[in-house]
Amino acid sequence: MPHFSRRSFLQLSAATSVASLFHGVGEAQMAAKARPANHSASAVMIDSNENPLGPSQSARDAVSAIIPQGGRYSFHLTGELAKIYAESEGLKPEWVSATVGSTPPLALTVLAFTSPKKSYVTADPGYEYGMMVAASTDVRVVNVPLTKTYAHDVRAMLAAAPDAGVFYICTPNNPTGTLTSHSDIEYLVANKPKDSIVLVDEAYIHFAETAQSAIDLVKDGKDVIVLRTFSKIYGMAGLRCGFIIARPDLMQKVMKSGGWNPMPVTAVVAAMASLKDPQLIPERRRINTEIRQQTFQWLDRNGYSYMPSESNCFMLDTKRPGQQARDAMAKEDVLVGRIWPSMPTYVRITVGTREEMEKFQTAFQKVMKSA
Ligand SMILES: Cc1ncc(COP(=O)(O)O)c(C=O)c1O
Repeated sequence: MPHFSRRSFLQLSAATSVASLFHGVGEAQMAAKARPANHSASAVMIDSNENPLGPSQSARDAVSAIIPQGGRYSFHLTGELAKIYAESEGLKPEWVSATVGSTPPLALTVLAFTSPKKSYVTADPGYEYGMMVAASTDVRVVNVPLTKTYAHDVRAMLAAAPDAGVFYICTPNNPTGTLTSHSDIEYLVANKPKDSIVLVDEAYIHFAETAQSAIDLVKDGKDVIVLRTFSKIYGMAGLRCGFIIARPDLMQKVMKSGGWNPMPVTAVVAAMASLKDPQLIPERRRINTEIRQQTFQWLDRNGYSYMPSESNCFMLDTKRPGQQARDAMAKEDVLVGRIWPSMPTYVRITVGTREEMEKFQTAFQKVMKSA
């Protein structure tokens, strides 16, 4: 069973907390909102961080097989999944809860640990969702620029917010695809104000060759919450599965801050099947790295600037207002996205298939030459 109970659903701390869940929009909606409405169905969509490979074959088979049982919640399956996941990460089952993607636990963690007196501290540019949830409940949002190497500037984050409730670290970062070192996260944890927590979003961790997870800090009993999702390397964004990994007392506090949603049985069995496939992560990481590095080599050969990334997305300098470049690329049937106000000439590119990235190169060359 997930740790959200029916009782905690009824004991919603405040109606405003729940309403605020719907104020923010996640990655998918942000990408869709920024996308031109009249794009063709065949357009290359590298404007949202999804995985063009979709679920693995074993996950697809598991989804098909469970469909006749779709009339039941089957909570026992969710419990089994959490157990398998906990075992795979060397955790006790009660330190792990399966969630409908990582968007709900991200919102609930912000609601649980921030308040008008306890700020939300994040990086700029960074993933906006937590910030939107915080802002919708009158929480002070503290945006701290990344360092020169595009890591989270943990020392500046600490200095900027002695009143912090949540320090949000996304590594690899969305949108830059850059890493924040484990030692920096440890420093943050060791020096943060009492009663605050460090929320480490590891949505993209499997794409990076060298990233070190913060799960060990959770195991050590620190004030750290880790989020994982099956939306990225596992290609299950449309199936919806994620995990929150936390000390049981922190987990309880998160769960009390809002409602819970039963897991789709399709997502549960797809996640189980994916976890049983030892080749899935290394194989998909290899494919993503190869296509990303080939794209970088092409950009280098043609003298274009970008931020080196360890993930499935990167920031590309278009040397003009980013929106102009997006519009021009959309005319070539290649949708690139989004723009962060602190990097106005850059657009985020998601690594697509080889074929999609070839189309991107042709379109980008044309757009840059026609300026
Ligand atoms: C950094 C980050 N965290 C969390 C999410 C939420 O993903 P999901 O709810 O699909 O697990 C996303 C989605 O793109 C993301 O980029």
